[in-house]
Amino acid sequence: MSIPGRAEVRARANIALAKYWGKSDDRLNLPAVPSLSITLEPMLTETVVELDESIAEDRFELDGELARAKEVARVTELLDHVRAESGVAARAIVRSKNHFPTASGLASSASGFAALAAAARHAFGLPRDDEKASAMARQASASAARSIYGGYVELPAGKPGDAGLAAQPVFGPEHWDLRVVVAVITEGRKAVGSRDGMGLSRETSFYWDAWVESAPIMTDRIRNAIDKRDLESLVPAVEQSFTTMHALAFTSSPSTLYFQPASIAALQTVRSLRDRGILVAPTMDAGPHVKAVCHVDDSAAVEAALRDTPGVIRTLMARPGPGVEID
Ligand code: DP6
Repeated sequence: MSIPGRAEVRARANIALAKYWGKSDDRLNLPAVPSLSITLEPMLTETVVELDESIAEDRFELDGELARAKEVARVTELLDHVRAESGVAARAIVRSKNHFPTASGLASSASGFAALAAAARHAFGLPRDDEKASAMARQASASAARSIYGGYVELPAGKPGDAGLAAQPVFGPEHWDLRVVVAVITEGRKAVGSRDGMGLSRETSFYWDAWVESAPIMTDRIRNAIDKRDLESLVPAVEQSFTTMHALAFTSSPSTLYFQPASIAALQTVRSLRDRGILVAPTMDAGPHVKAVCHVDDSAAVEAALRDTPGVIRTLMARPGPGVEID
């Protein structure tokens, strides 16, 4: 059987409006709560996977440099799944390039693992199957499952043992022309990664059960608001999802705090925009950056206000974009 042996894929980062935080199964990397995100144009990762019979280990280059052993191990783990499914034992060279700043506050792991899953499947001769690619990306990093699809995408909570859990596209990118303004606060690496942070939340925060109970309610509200293109309902729901997630991190022991003083300043800016009648929702992930979700017509005013906020280094603007594109 002849297989392509090479594939090139583009995938985009995503921003969760309803947050994923915490797992129901560590081994299979299943989320304990549902999440819902927007796939972001132009936050692009390009990944090339090339099979190479002459090498004994997979090789992984990120932005032109050889990746660290820990990163290579995660790539190999995903490739092992592809090798098992395809029956092709060859090792591969993976070259990945992020076309947005890695310290932009938008996780490159989501676009990276989505691109890798889709590219590896194609290179190893498996037929295109977005559901399987999403499940595979999810096992590497759960937020990556959502970047397989474009537009507004949901990843359901997973029951322990549910190895095939995949994200589902809910509305296409054209459904609603929202904008996401990213206020970049620091360039450094985050102090506590999301994987460690969410593990600590589950093990130590007394709010864990309340989170698992309330997250589906918040996700429903967010999905309904997107369905109706109702920004007035979306704004408080998006805000509550991220504040509840951060309350959980903050009440872990030891406490995890992702906010910097400039994060608070940016949140106050969002508040003052709202006082001026602009509908805008703040959200934050496992880092200090603030992302503001608003209507396209207000996006210039939101970006200008965030750019003028003390401590904000720069801003980026994103919009709903497509899912993975395989060449
Ligand atoms: C705060 O997907 O990075 O961005 O599955 O352990 O790799 P792992 O976690 P990851 O967590 C993302 C958490 C978040 C919220 C979200 O994107 O839903």
